[in-house]
Amino acid sequence: MNYKVKDMGLAEAGRNLIQWAEDHMPVLMHIKSDFEHQQPLTGSTIGCCLHVTKETAVLMKTLQAGGATVALCGSNPLSTNDAVAAALADEGIHVYAWRGNSDQYYWCVDRVLDHQPRITMDDGGDLITVLHTQRQELLDSVVAGTEETTTGVNRQRMMAEQGELRFPVVAVNDAMTKHFFDNRYGTGQSTIDGILRATSVLLAGKTFVVVGYGWCGKGVAMRAQGMGAKVVVCEVDEIRALEAAMDGFSVMPVAQAAPRGDVFVTVTGNKHAIDGPALQAMKDGAVIANAGHFDNEINVPFLQEQAVASHQVRDNTRVYEMPDGRKLYLLAEGRLVNLAAAEGHPSEVMDMSFANQALVARWLLQKDPTLEAQVYPVPESIDREVARRKLATMDIAIDTLTEEQKQYMHSWQEGT
Ligand code: ADE
Repeated sequence: MNYKVKDMGLAEAGRNLIQWAEDHMPVLMHIKSDFEHQQPLTGSTIGCCLHVTKETAVLMKTLQAGGATVALCGSNPLSTNDAVAAALADEGIHVYAWRGNSDQYYWCVDRVLDHQPRITMDDGGDLITVLHTQRQELLDSVVAGTEETTTGVNRQRMMAEQGELRFPVVAVNDAMTKHFFDNRYGTGQSTIDGILRATSVLLAGKTFVVVGYGWCGKGVAMRAQGMGAKVVVCEVDEIRALEAAMDGFSVMPVAQAAPRGDVFVTVTGNKHAIDGPALQAMKDGAVIANAGHFDNEINVPFLQEQAVASHQVRDNTRVYEMPDGRKLYLLAEGRLVNLAAAEGHPSEVMDMSFANQALVARWLLQKDPTLEAQVYPVPESIDREVARRKLATMDIAIDTLTEEQKQYMHSWQEGT
């Protein structure tokens, strides 16, 4: 069998979701139509480990329209939309994904690799890591990889630094038209969306603690403030901490924020950003969520060990009853709350992220750039093309420099 999903009976519902995404991803749809005519990916297999959402489906269909054979597994056990997975399987995409596949997560990754991809497309780096550690026999057939997220890019930079990376990787995350919008406005909105769908708590007047002030943290803090919360930011980086302070947020260490917060969100990309002592200090009723890639940002095992009881109170919300009588509410098992409890970033923002992915795949396969086994940025021409196309779909015109201005920018003689 060349796919494994939860229930093919969900395909019709999945097609409706994908149609919605297509209607809100005009840049990617434009690229899809170019691909249909040009067939730039013909003969290549692209192996993907991405959140299986309606937006990812549009990317998969774009790659398929360009002539590629596409294999896909989820990049998180709780982020797969089963209806979307069924619809994709029905379209001939080799999908190995279903929500709650924790035990078989790596089985799914392995099935994608069985298709012997020429290009890998990762969100978090699991495909590349398994290729380099357990499926090395397949390394020679890989031309290059792409990486969607900060955590994955960090992992691949470490691999390159330690001389372990065996093929070039393009850091799609680092494109301006990706992280500037997806990480900030995408994570900002979808994280709030996930928290509200899971709890329906009122945010106005609450103390909302954001741990980590990278692009994702900035987005979450901005949107929580917009909902009327008093936002506290915790940071380890002095420049980001300063930035958060001047953006108007209270800045303090996690230990000080812990007894004050009503809602906590980790977005650090690091382990145990909320550790045992913070969990011990939180007040009764605190809501704790993670929006970073991996589920190790909150020390969930500590919570499980310390709690005298725990049960699921709502979809994606588990209460932990602590020995001193406090109730702590953990969302989505500490996994990405925006994807597990909501639908991930809105289609409009994924439009740009996945336009980069599609154009980079074409660049890698068509231009055949001679790249070393290093981490590379997205070519600026692609980044700017995505921005131009997005502006056009938003009906926004901008100015261009006059010849006089261009010359001025290349001169130094004219002054006061
Ligand atoms: N990452 C965050 N949101 C996403 C989405 N909607 N689809 C795919 N990956 C995502």
